[in-house]
Parts: sequence; C-alpha cells; structure tokens
Amino acid sequence: MNRKLEIINVYKKKISLLKKHNKLYFSSDSPIISDSEYDSLKNEILNLEKSNSFLKKLNLNKKVVGSPPSNKFKKIKHLKPMLSLSNAFDKNDMKDFISKITNFLNLKEENIEFSSEPKIDGISATLIYENGILTKGLSRGDGVTGEDILENLKTINEIPKKIKGNNIPSLLEIRGEIYIGKKDFNKIKGNFANPRNAAGGSLRQKDSKETSKIPLKYFAYGFGAIKPMMFSSQAEFLETIKNWGFSTNPLVKVVKNLEEIESQHSFIDSKRSALDYDIDGLVYKVNDLKLQSRLGNTSNSPRWAIAYKFSAEKAVTKIKDIAIQVGRTGAITPVAKVEPVTVGGVVVSNATLHNEDEINRKDIRIGDTVQIQRAGDVIPQVISVDKTKRSQDSKKYIFPEKCLCGEITQKEVNKSTKKEDAVRRCLRGYDCNFIAKERLKHIVSKDAFNIDGLGKKVIDQFWDLKLIRKPSDIFIINYSKIDNLEGWGKLSISNLKKAIEKSKTIGIDRFIFSIGIRHIGQENAKILGSFFKTINKFSGLFEEKNRKKILENLIELDGIGQIQIDSIDNFFSNNKNVEIVKKLIFELKVKNFKTLNKKGKFSNKTIMFTGGFEKMSRSEAKSLVENNGGKVLGKISKKLDILVIGNSKPTKKKIETAKELSIKTIKESEWYKLLDL
Ligand code: IVH
Repeated sequence: MNRKLEIINVYKKKISLLKKHNKLYFSSDSPIISDSEYDSLKNEILNLEKSNSFLKKLNLNKKVVGSPPSNKFKKIKHLKPMLSLSNAFDKNDMKDFISKITNFLNLKEENIEFSSEPKIDGISATLIYENGILTKGLSRGDGVTGEDILENLKTINEIPKKIKGNNIPSLLEIRGEIYIGKKDFNKIKGNFANPRNAAGGSLRQKDSKETSKIPLKYFAYGFGAIKPMMFSSQAEFLETIKNWGFSTNPLVKVVKNLEEIESQHSFIDSKRSALDYDIDGLVYKVNDLKLQSRLGNTSNSPRWAIAYKFSAEKAVTKIKDIAIQVGRTGAITPVAKVEPVTVGGVVVSNATLHNEDEINRKDIRIGDTVQIQRAGDVIPQVISVDKTKRSQDSKKYIFPEKCLCGEITQKEVNKSTKKEDAVRRCLRGYDCNFIAKERLKHIVSKDAFNIDGLGKKVIDQFWDLKLIRKPSDIFIINYSKIDNLEGWGKLSISNLKKAIEKSKTIGIDRFIFSIGIRHIGQENAKILGSFFKTINKFSGLFEEKNRKKILENLIELDGIGQIQIDSIDNFFSNNKNVEIVKKLIFELKVKNFKTLNKKGKFSNKTIMFTGGFEKMSRSEAKSLVENNGGKVLGKISKKLDILVIGNSKPTKKKIETAKELSIKTIKESEWYKLLDL
C-alpha cells in the first residue's frame, strides 16, 4: 500500500474511534476513556492533519473533534436527596394519582390544589445560596451525591450570582432545569442527538469557557434545603423567587380537579411546538407545602408530585425481524427489529412487542408495516399493524417455545386467579447464560451496587471475555486482560478499580435489592433489611430448615405478602442461587441496617392498627409511626407494643387478642393526642 493510503487509513480509524467516544460521551453520557486519553486521541488527529494537508480535503473531521469530556468533578452530597418523579400517561393514571393522595390524607378532591408546571426536558441542577450569594452548584448525579459544576453554572447569565431582595433565607437551595433553546440548538447541533444531550455535554465541560460558548438557559422549579422556611405553597414559592430574579416558567398555573388538569394539559400540549424549549409533559404538584410534607416520599419519588406525559410521538416503519430478549427474571420479551425511523428526535431501530399474547392478538408478522410510539424514556413499542400493506406471502409469526439458551420456556399459573401468565419464562436462573448476564447488569445498576464505569455495555464486553460470569467475579477481575483492549487505558482501569472497591461496602437493604429476587423491589428490600438487620441473620435463609421458620415470621411485616414470601422461598430453594449469593457476600462488607429517625415517639416500638381513622388514612398513620422511629406490624403477636383502635369498624377479634396478650390498646382520640394533632 502506498504511504498516502496508509496514512489515510490510520486517520480514518482514529476518526471513527473518536466518533465512538463522542457518542458514548455526548449521546449516552457514559464515557469509557479518561479525559487525557480523549485529548491525546484528538491531538493525534490534529497532528496528522497538520503534517498531511491532503487529509483535511477529505473533510472527515467536520464536527467530530469536539471538546474533551470530563469526569473529574468533585462529588458533593446533596443537602436533601434530588428525587425523580413517577409518570402518568393518561387521564386514568391522573385519577389514580389524585385518589391515592385524597385517600392518604383522608381529604376530599375539592380541597386539594395542584401547581401545574411544564416539565422541561433538560438537565437538573441545584443552586445553593448562603446569605444571598451563590456558593454551590451541583448536578443531580445519582440523586444522593451530585457533581460540583458551580463554575459552569455561573456562566449562565439568567442564574443570579447574588440575590437582590428582602427577607432572603440565610440558606436557600433552588432546584431547576438547565436547557438549550430550540433555535440556539439548531445553530450548534454538531455531535449532539438532541438539545437535552447538548445541555448535558455543555454542563460537564471541564473548562467553563467551553460551557460559556453554548447559550444555556434555565427555569427554577423547586427547592431543596431552606432555612428558615418561609413558604406555605409551591405557587407562593415560585412567585417569590421570581421577584428575587430567578427565571420561572410563565406557563405555571394552579389548578383544582381532574377536569382542570385535563384542560390545562391539552392547552399546553397545543402550545408545545411553538415553545422555544422541549417539554415532555406537565408536572403536577400538591400546592400546599404542609400537605406535601404529610404525604412524604416513597424510596425514589415524592407522593405529592407526578409527571403527566404528553401522548407519545408516533411513526410508521417496517418490521425486518422479530428477536427474543431474556430478562433477569427469565421473562422472554419479543422485540421487533424495525427499519430505523426518527420518532420525536431519536432514531429507533428496536421496538418491544411485549409478549406472545400481544403478538397473537394483533397478528403481528415479520415484514409488516407498523406504527410505533415512543413516550419519554420508555422503550419504544409497536402499537398497530397496517394490514392493507401486508404482502400476500406473509406468514403468521410462531413464537419460539425455547429460551435463547435452548431450554423450553413456561407460562406460570397465578395461584389465586388460576389464570395463565401472558409472559413466557426461562426457569433456569443462573444456569441460563442470558439470565445470568442480565442479573449482572442489574447488580451494577444505579439503585443496586451503583458501580461507575461498569455499565451494561461493559458487562457485555467483560462477559464475552469471560471476565465476569457471576456477581462475585466483579470483585476479582483480572485487569491485565483488559489493559490493552480498545477503549481501556490506565486511568479508566484505575477508576474502575476504585469504583468497584468502593461498592464493596453496601447497606443490607441495597444488597437484598441487588441480588434480584423477583417481586423484591427497593421498597420491599428496605422492609426486609429492617427485619433482618444483619447479613448474618439474612443468611439464615440459605438453609431450608431455618428458611421455613424465618418465612413464617415475614408475614408479620406490613408490605410483605405471600407473593413475596413464595418468591424468596423459591429463590433460595435453588442451590445455585445460594452458592452465588454466598460467594458474593464473601467479597463484601455488608453494613447492618441503618434505621433513620430512630429517635422519636415510637423508637423501638411496634404498632398495629385496626379500624379506620377520621383525620388520616392508614398509610399516613403508618408513615407517621415510621418517621417517629417505630415499626408497624401486620399481624398481632406478643411482640406488639400498642394496638391503635380506629373509630370506624375495628376488628373485635384483634381487640380481644390484644387484651388476652396484655397488649396496650389506645383509642383514636388518644392516638391524635399522642401525635399532638
Ligand atoms: S419537580 C421531587 N418540576 O424532571 C420532584 N421537575 O423526573 C423533583 N423537571 O429531575 C422534580 N421540569 O430534572 C420538577 N417543573 C418541574 C420540572 C422537573 C423538569 C425534571 C427534573 C427532575 C425530573 C423528574
């Protein structure tokens, strides 16, 4: 090959490598090389161009050599966690949201107001003002710990550096969304798939001068810590900070009931395309801050707010093939491989078909012209088939009976309804390589071990290299096998080692969630964590004899039902699971359960309720006990300290049993007194 061609080849390879890293960084926000490795790759390209002028004429470098990414921000713990929102997609979901709130608070719908606010599709950040001066600025991070991006945030003109106004709280934390206007985005597009990624990329620049080149804007939508607290409603908060110079969204409105929520929704939806920023729905928040605090949070999201998404964007395409995916619970999901099509600014080439029944019901076939939709971050789905476009020789799709591992799949029968499940499952657990790999992806995910740098793609890579096959392997990786692989350098390996080392210390509740027992989500894992407290006690489940005894006690726990108990039993009846969990524990330091708010009126006390209350719902009563350090039991036993008897239809049998066991009982009125209500 002549010298010139050789150089062109090397150059092309480097450009495509850079493109790959740009994509990982900018579009999926998951860089796998360090800043310096990225820099040197970029410099190599520029140097090649300098010394070989013919390369420039190829015009390959256009928009490829962007700014170096950075993962070097200082991590800072949030003063209060930055939660996310649960989603509603239609009127029914909103109806559920309202009735959950009215039930919890035991209030009527007409007594609750909502602040309706556009949900800006940008990047959230939090600004901390001490005595009116902006002193800290953090990204959301994982919600608990954020990154110090103060210098970059300071480049945004609209963000006040010093608040002008009277009576400003000495500590004021303002949360908001950073975005790029649609018009501005069209000018700078470059490497970015959409304005949201552009805003994210720009905010994470190491050099704030780079950030300042991109016209970022923001809307403030909420608060974190405030001292002293001076607001009584969300609307009042927004109005006040607007007067202090913060940018708040002009389309915010207080609304009352489902009808008003619906009409505001269609009104804003109709304005959506004319706005200069992307919104993907409206956020509805209970306006009264006292009610917000009564409602409190579940593990990830507040009970007092919801994101009501706009109807999904749709597009028409053709199914090229139907493939099968195996999930970590063994569920087999059919996926349509479609001709790539842009849906709401994102190129889609895969869409879920849910399950076998769904394919049969809609008679979906390979070669069909279909409508697909993408709503928010949800996986795109096939919604309908255009049968008029079907070719004559098309054949009905026969759903495979086997898992990708070759095992025959099963449909489970629901114990109580006796109905067959719609989902086929592979029941081989860790013996199925496809399930095993998905379980590993779950283990490293954010809500589980949360290992930075060990995402889904890296698990795939390490799996193929046979570096990781079961969870405990994560902690004994042979790094010498990756140090000369493409995409890995000294720094990225050292960062990965650190992240893995750090993740070895894990709370028992997170650990229980991580091992991926079916039906044990974060909430249930917390309940189990508070029951077992130590990994030693939890390990009692490994042996059949102990297990049965322990499981009998679990039914006492409020929130754990027979489905969960059967699932735990099922998981630990499998010797391979036990062996794998034991090996994992061996590598870890599992911390005992940390009880929050231990000090309170009900510290170390167990409470049970019977009958309904006038002023509050059962759920609110339960969270009051938990927030005051106590535990709510679901079944009466000697362990119970207090039985609270509500005025409305208490169970006689429970009151009698309590008396027999000499358990203290209190009436509804005494309950309120106890709580100073
Ligand atoms: S309130 C605890 N209000 O949506 C509730 N969020 O999915 C915190 N967002 O992380 C969120 N506009 O980045 C709220 N008016 C708005 C919002 C908004 C956009 C984003 C925010 C948040 C995400 C939640």
